[in-house]
Amino acid sequence: MSTMTMDAPTAIEIDVIETSITREVPYFAVEDLHAYYGESYIVQGVSFEIRRGEILALLGRNGAGKTSTLRTIARLDDPALHQGEIWLEGKPVHRMRSHEASRAGIQLVPEDRRIIPGLTVEENLTLAQVAPAHGWELDRIYAHFPRLAERRRQEGITLSGGEQQMLAIARALARDIKLLLLDEPYEGLAPVIVKEIEKILNEIKADGITTVIVEQNAIAALELADRAVILDTGAVAFTGTAKHVLENEDLRQEYLAI
Ligand SMILES: Nc1ncnc2c1ncn2[C@@H]1O[C@H](COP(=O)(O)OP(=O)(O)OP(=O)(O)O)[C@@H](O)[C@H]1O
Ligand SMILES: [Mg+2]
Repeated sequence: MSTMTMDAPTAIEIDVIETSITREVPYFAVEDLHAYYGESYIVQGVSFEIRRGEILALLGRNGAGKTSTLRTIARLDDPALHQGEIWLEGKPVHRMRSHEASRAGIQLVPEDRRIIPGLTVEENLTLAQVAPAHGWELDRIYAHFPRLAERRRQEGITLSGGEQQMLAIARALARDIKLLLLDEPYEGLAPVIVKEIEKILNEIKADGITTVIVEQNAIAALELADRAVILDTGAVAFTGTAKHVLENEDLRQEYLAI
């Protein structure tokens, strides 16, 4: 009898053990990010979480800090992260440099697309496949991007704007991709090409890719996304479902002017 009471854990200890086992770790999370360009305090306490395979629309007026937030997540040198944490699958991205974040699966497709001159479509893709290749195989990429398959021998910078955007996204998939960060992917593109890119983004979502999309075309981004974060002067003004923003005119007018 006395041995029993000594060995058995108390009720309180059991509670602690169960809580620590069942706590869900988010797939991707940023917690209270503060980032600066030199002395300029731009990202002022941004937090959000994303589940695996979700699309999150990161919205806000010009200068709200959307690009700066993506750059902070991708661990580029500017803006410099002074405070806050970034976690991908339990790995501390905030402790990484940009090449380490890229190797961990975070791929930023910047606004200017950065297609490498003098290289064909296929060379742009194969150059992105770091050794040993963890990213998508060419056949798998071409299955999602038939336009690129048809133009695989064409020089990348001679592609149309929409095709260059597709190549920029495809190149991110050729790397070891977990989290795709898209900065204004629809900029300057005709609605029919936007539809084509949306279809591709839905296909890769079905493959488990998690995406953050920054877009001036907020309606298009919200229709694609599961969830939305609205930034206002470097801080989070709203976080919730994309549907909620689409249905809330006051919110759209106040922060998105649409
Ligand atoms: N390199 C830099 N040095 C200093 N300030 C910068 C730098 N880059 C951006 N900023 C400032 O940071 C703020 C946020 O810029 P950011 O580019 O993140 O906004 P954004 O939401 O992406 O805007 P847009 O919709 O116009 O692309 C702006 O006030 C901008 O002037
Ligand atoms: Mg921007």
